Amino acid sequence: MTAEGRFPDEPVICFMKQLQDKVAIITGGSRGIGKVTAQTFLEAGAGVSVWDIDREGGELALKEWLAQGFEVDFQLLNTAEKGSVEAAAQAVADRFGRIDILVNNAGITRDSSTKNMTEAQWQSVIDVNLSGVFHCTKAVYPFMAARGWGRILNASSVVALYGNFGQANYVAAKAGLIGLTKVWAREFGPKGITLNAVAPGFIQTDMINTIPAEYLNDLLTKTPLRRMGQPQDVANAYLFLASEQAAFITGITLSVDGGLVV
Ligand code: NAI
Repeated sequence: MTAEGRFPDEPVICFMKQLQDKVAIITGGSRGIGKVTAQTFLEAGAGVSVWDIDREGGELALKEWLAQGFEVDFQLLNTAEKGSVEAAAQAVADRFGRIDILVNNAGITRDSSTKNMTEAQWQSVIDVNLSGVFHCTKAVYPFMAARGWGRILNASSVVALYGNFGQANYVAAKAGLIGLTKVWAREFGPKGITLNAVAPGFIQTDMINTIPAEYLNDLLTKTPLRRMGQPQDVANAYLFLASEQAAFITGITLSVDGGLVV
């Protein structure tokens, strides 16, 4: 496994150019799952705009991708701010001429038992993980509808399916995304836009650094495939769902969790 959580000699090659001439927005693409997804989409031939609140990470990633000759840009923004998101969508359409794919990947955790959870902890997670997805989706919809083609992918989570101690805010938002995915599949389907969610299990990124080792070990023993997920595992699911091959799939939540919730 490489430092960035990719499989070194695997399977991106066979997916290459699956997104030729498509333009994708990936929120939270400065690091973790979003960054590997951006790299995967770029290698598959897409133009990519990364939207992230992390200037340093975003600019560093942008430099790496430009050095590889990719068609890519970085918009510094907070997905919870409607105005910034709308301006960024217009900027992407101006620069790339179209918007085909949105991966609503940006997300945060502010964990605490419900008993101790502050309103600020509750609200900040709802603002980013739920309202942010609403703003980004609304901002790109007119561009997709105008061309009669679109793919919108939402980052849900395994914990939306089975709940988790200390994550009332996060689970409420991630379960909300499963419902929203179904609503938008119905609303946007007639315009040629598919909507799907991905529910990753525990994936090796900065986000899970705060989880105690013994809890993670326990999860491993409950995972039939007996390993942690890698960002590339999730990026591969996004790539498939964003591609032409997934044209008749909409409204689903695809688990990428090594069988944790089987
Ligand atoms: P991460 O913490 O490594 O990266 C998240 C990215 O989102 C960062 O680049 C961050 O700067 C950006 N971001 C955060 N708030 C933002 C905002 N308001 N506006 C713009 N950008 C913002 O997270 P990771 O692990 O890569 O997770 C990506 C997504 O997958 C998240 O939605 C997360 O909830 C979800 N997920 C992750 C799992 C895991 O085990 N790592 C499991 C299940 C779901």
